[in-house]
Amino acid sequence: MIKKFVFNNPFKTYATVLDIESCTDTLPYFEYSKRKFTYKMSDTTCVYGLGEAVRGINKRGWIYEGYCSDDPSHTEDKRSLYGAHNFLIIDDKQNDGNLFGVFFDYPARITFDIGYSNPSILEVSIEKDDIAVYIIEGNTKREIVRNFRKLIGMSYVAPKWAFGYMQSRWSYFTKDDVIRIADDYEESDIPLDAIFLDIDYMERFKDFTIHDERFPDFEQFVDYMKRRGIRLVPIIDAAVKVEDDYDVYEEGRKNGYFCKDKDGNDYVVGVWPGRAVFPDFLNKDAGKWFSDKYKILTDMGIEGFWNDMNEPAIFYSDKGLDKAFSQIEKYREISLDANTFFDCRDVFPRLSNSQDDYNSFYHNVDGKQIKHNDVHNLYGYFMTKTAQEGFMRNNPDKRTLLFSRASYIGAHRYGGIWTGDNHSWWSHILLCLKQMPSLNMCGFVYSGCDLGGFNGNCTRDLLLRYLSLGIFTPLMRNHSACGTKDQECFAYSDVKDFKNIIDFRYRLIPYIYSEYMKAVLNDDMYIRPLSFDYENDEMAKNIEDQVMVGQSIMIAPVYTQNADGRYVYIPENMTQVRLNADSTITQTKIEKGHHYVNVPLNEIVFFIKENHCIPLCDSAKNVDSIDYSTIKLIGDADTYELYTDDGITTQYSLDNIKTISK
Ligand code: GLC
Repeated sequence: MIKKFVFNNPFKTYATVLDIESCTDTLPYFEYSKRKFTYKMSDTTCVYGLGEAVRGINKRGWIYEGYCSDDPSHTEDKRSLYGAHNFLIIDDKQNDGNLFGVFFDYPARITFDIGYSNPSILEVSIEKDDIAVYIIEGNTKREIVRNFRKLIGMSYVAPKWAFGYMQSRWSYFTKDDVIRIADDYEESDIPLDAIFLDIDYMERFKDFTIHDERFPDFEQFVDYMKRRGIRLVPIIDAAVKVEDDYDVYEEGRKNGYFCKDKDGNDYVVGVWPGRAVFPDFLNKDAGKWFSDKYKILTDMGIEGFWNDMNEPAIFYSDKGLDKAFSQIEKYREISLDANTFFDCRDVFPRLSNSQDDYNSFYHNVDGKQIKHNDVHNLYGYFMTKTAQEGFMRNNPDKRTLLFSRASYIGAHRYGGIWTGDNHSWWSHILLCLKQMPSLNMCGFVYSGCDLGGFNGNCTRDLLLRYLSLGIFTPLMRNHSACGTKDQECFAYSDVKDFKNIIDFRYRLIPYIYSEYMKAVLNDDMYIRPLSFDYENDEMAKNIEDQVMVGQSIMIAPVYTQNADGRYVYIPENMTQVRLNADSTITQTKIEKGHHYVNVPLNEIVFFIKENHCIPLCDSAKNVDSIDYSTIKLIGDADTYELYTDDGITTQYSLDNIKTISK
């Protein structure tokens, strides 16, 4: 079922949890030579996977990299985003060809040329010879994913409240700003479970500090908000500000817990707080030390965090800055021509996330000096891993919300991810829709994108359409960059339309939470491409803008401005469910085939599979106050397997499923 092939001496990434003997046979399917794994694709081969990458659900036709990248422009010419998820499923079964999964456990830069240089060749290249490759077999794509999950371990379980609607912005600057957001949501009668605190809640962007003037009496404030039914979720950045007398910095420096240059000096970079240093999460003691700091905030009542800038993002380094200033000086003396002008112009932009920096600092792994670039993709993963291990150490029975920007397979056991700095663009609704099933393949079940889009100004119609997708993603957070137009629902006209959609999320919680928990506990996927459910349907593999959500639902979001609906492929007879603008529900039968489906901005349409049904309850002001006695089943089956638990402890199990009937 799973075979492991080891080349040389791979770095221990802890991506996998099964102890498998490595095979001595030759690696099947691929030719391996000169750090290149080559696979010959047929005309019909589909390639799935790569988690958080741009482009299609079928990854064929582009070149991707597994290399965690801080890139705020998610355009289709990019090779990598924040996560490195080196898992592929190669499917040529319809053509009586191969079907298998392959995981390249390799923590440095790895390139996946999937028919980009040569349309029929898949070539995976690495920079050094040390790698573990796993071949995962299964009769179906879904079975391959389940087998893969056995190899990499069960996915993280988020607390139930984290399935509610959450509001964020960079930044709500003061306590009063946060209260105003809560008031406005309450006045609009829109449910809300959490408000996020971006970097400005800190004192000069220093991790584990609170800005006392802007957020006085923080502990009481956290408690006050919780009594109003809203949790506060602060951000934690990877880099620690260099500042004398700042205890986190001083402790880390004294104990040698920061990444070092080759001579053993702390490697200084510039990020939000100015000059800063990177905690060495790969060093066990340093990781433990940093993770214990979260306790400062959990002791004040905080129950969730988002870990950011952990690719790690570098604006500049001391070393790079020196070089840039001396380079720029040289240009002062000359008349700039075509080449020198562009070179001069780019001296400063080139400072950020430079390869030179990633090659210039080191980790201390069990006393061995390891160059950062050789293990680059583990940094954000280990920040998440150590943080969650810290929460479990301090409170073993409790779930803590944690999601990260950078990740590697393995991180899925410790937290979720969000897809980073997307845009208020229509095309990014579609990007999110395509990322979700691919992330599920790689174990990242608790995930979602910034609804409304992070960069740029969001229009009313765009937010409504983003939310219409977001009601189905486990993480449902509206977040936006500084300087952008207000993006909270109440900032737009006819707020009742937003209320209708977000209320519906809460009505769906019994389904979403049940299906999420079943997916996690069965090592399954919560969001899947159509071709994973309809393996023998020739059409399904072409469908890139519809996905399955849980066992019963198919969604087909609208992602085009001014469209009053869209074409939908119905792979079997289904029940079409329409949430009308007045919150009533209409169910109609829809036959297998292609249909144009009308979807006004203030309505939601989705589809229930034949012989399936879903539970719907009444909406509530937050997840904790949902009344499960209001559940009604819709669809054409009579029973549903409902999962319930307390939502907050780690006592989750498949025994918590009970069958409910109409
Ligand atoms: C990064 C994050 C974004 C956050 C910002 C400020 O860009 O991706 O979500 O708002 O930093 O902290």
